[in-house]
Amino acid sequence: MQTILITGAGTGLGKELALSYAKKGHTIILTGRRLDLLQAVKEEIQSVGAKAFSYQMDISNVEDVNQTVNRITSEHNVHYLLNNAGAGCFGPLTELDYKEIDTAIQTNVLGTIFLTKELLPHLLKQEDAKIMNIISTAGQKGKVNESVYVASKFAVRGFTESLQKELEGKVHVIATYMGGMNTPFWEDTDHIKDKSRLKSPREVAEKIVAHDDKLEIQI
Ligand SMILES: NC(=O)c1ccc[n+]([C@@H]2O[C@H](COP(=O)([O-])OP(=O)(O)OC[C@H]3O[C@@H](n4cnc5c(N)ncnc54)[C@H](OP(=O)(O)O)[C@@H]3O)[C@@H](O)[C@H]2O)c1
Repeated sequence: MQTILITGAGTGLGKELALSYAKKGHTIILTGRRLDLLQAVKEEIQSVGAKAFSYQMDISNVEDVNQTVNRITSEHNVHYLLNNAGAGCFGPLTELDYKEIDTAIQTNVLGTIFLTKELLPHLLKQEDAKIMNIISTAGQKGKVNESVYVASKFAVRGFTESLQKELEGKVHVIATYMGGMNTPFWEDTDHIKDKSRLKSPREVAEKIVAHDDKLEIQI
């Protein structure tokens, strides 16, 4: 059994990944900025007899990442980092404000890089170490009114493919691509008109868990 650190584990896909991996008997380190949501997921996991721990961490803040990784690694042997946290940024480029652009790039690109860099020395000490990056079909093709989000996910794809080469034989690095899911991700935007038609995050999480021996997952 492994110990899995999941970012953005209080909601949406991250929460469903946490529950799916916990059902298989893995120990889950839940991280995110909203501790109350992480605590609720932790209790749900503990109610099915699995182990979970929660840590507040803003992945876009390098000092916070550094301190929280030090705390986590002094208390746990983490085998598997699942970079799931992400922020949207949708609309015509002329209408996007700089704050939204900054948040998407800071979270999706720098957050993923900061946490992976901080945890990597620890992962390299484990047997069967694994990193999964949740990308999106936005990391595979350009889309109207998604320029900044797509740019951020192309960056994560490049980061992932490079680490696959750099860490070959040492850490199993997985790139995961999926289309739209019905999660809180779409709450503050009207970019998607009817999100009820999107896939459920539970269904996507179950497919991810079943295929995490691959280098690339396409859902
Ligand atoms: N929904 C879709 O249609 C879709 C499709 C393809 C890919 N994706 C990707 O799937 C991943 C999960 O998204 P979701 O759909 O499950 O949306 P979500 O429910 O909004 O989840 C995003 C999570 O990221 C966390 N987060 C955001 N900024 C953070 C930060 N600075 N530090 C730490 N955690 C942060 C949020 O928690 P806190 O606010 O508590 O920190 C939240 O739990 C994202 O990478 C997204 O790009 C989504």
